[in-house]
Amino acid sequence: MSNPILKIKDLTHDFGPFRAIDNVSLEIERGSITGLIGPNGAGKTTLFNVITGGLKPKLGSITLDDIDVTGSVPESLFLRGLGRTFQIPRPFAKMSVLENVMLAPKGQIGEKLHGPFFLRGFVKNQEIAIRRRAMEVIDFMTLGPLADHPAGKISGGQMKLLELARILMGDPQVILLDEPAAGVNPTLAGTLIEKIEELNRLGKTFLIIEHDMDFIMGHCNTVIALTQGQVVFQGTPEQAQSNQVLLDAYLGAKEND
Ligand SMILES: Nc1ncnc2c1ncn2[C@@H]1O[C@H](COP(=O)(O)OP(=O)(O)OP(=O)(O)O)[C@@H](O)[C@H]1O
Ligand SMILES: [Mg+2]
Repeated sequence: MSNPILKIKDLTHDFGPFRAIDNVSLEIERGSITGLIGPNGAGKTTLFNVITGGLKPKLGSITLDDIDVTGSVPESLFLRGLGRTFQIPRPFAKMSVLENVMLAPKGQIGEKLHGPFFLRGFVKNQEIAIRRRAMEVIDFMTLGPLADHPAGKISGGQMKLLELARILMGDPQVILLDEPAAGVNPTLAGTLIEKIEELNRLGKTFLIIEHDMDFIMGHCNTVIALTQGQVVFQGTPEQAQSNQVLLDAYLGAKEND
């Protein structure tokens, strides 16, 4: 039975005269891992940016857990349980891994109120709680030994794990990952997949942009393909593998690599 957690209806986004997202409608099943594929420039990252509030859609609607969130800003969507990582990780390079993760939760009272005396004890306790939680997610992502390292000095793959650690601070229900395995060595990619599957077993829903077809075919329940801003396929990995358009466009290309 269908039970979507994220519903996108007739979504359209233009960059000036260029239509990057063209009337996209899709539903992301609660508890699923959905792969979003498509050639370079298809609009995958732009779709993420519209869904997560970085860009306002020209037309269409976005519903998260039955609430219309069209036009919401990224911070409010994060508080509502929508987390996303970026294609190019952008940690604060000079801050430590731990400090980067501690920065993630928005709306901390300590950020809003600059120290009325009677609140200082409370703020301090909150900081301790945030530090503890941050260490938990860092350990979960296997980054414990790097907690005090400057985030700019860790590898590209470790930065991808750090990105996921940061959004886990918000305990998101829906997690959008933009090319999590790109440029990541096989060991760290394996760790990442293991963590995605573990979080999925805990009920988290994933929408993942990936060019790596083994990743898509091996770990996703559903595959969506985007071309020139339009959804050209939605189905199971098995259906994707017998779809001639996809075979010609992406899956067959692998054999020529
Ligand atoms: N800020 C922007 N201003 C103008 N055009 C943009 C902007 N961002 C993206 N585009 C264009 O929109 C189209 C979709 O880009 P997008 O980055 O969403 O593609 P993508 O599917 O994520 O590609 P890739 O696989 O290379 O990451 C491209 O033609 C791109 O040049
Ligand atoms: Mg992209």
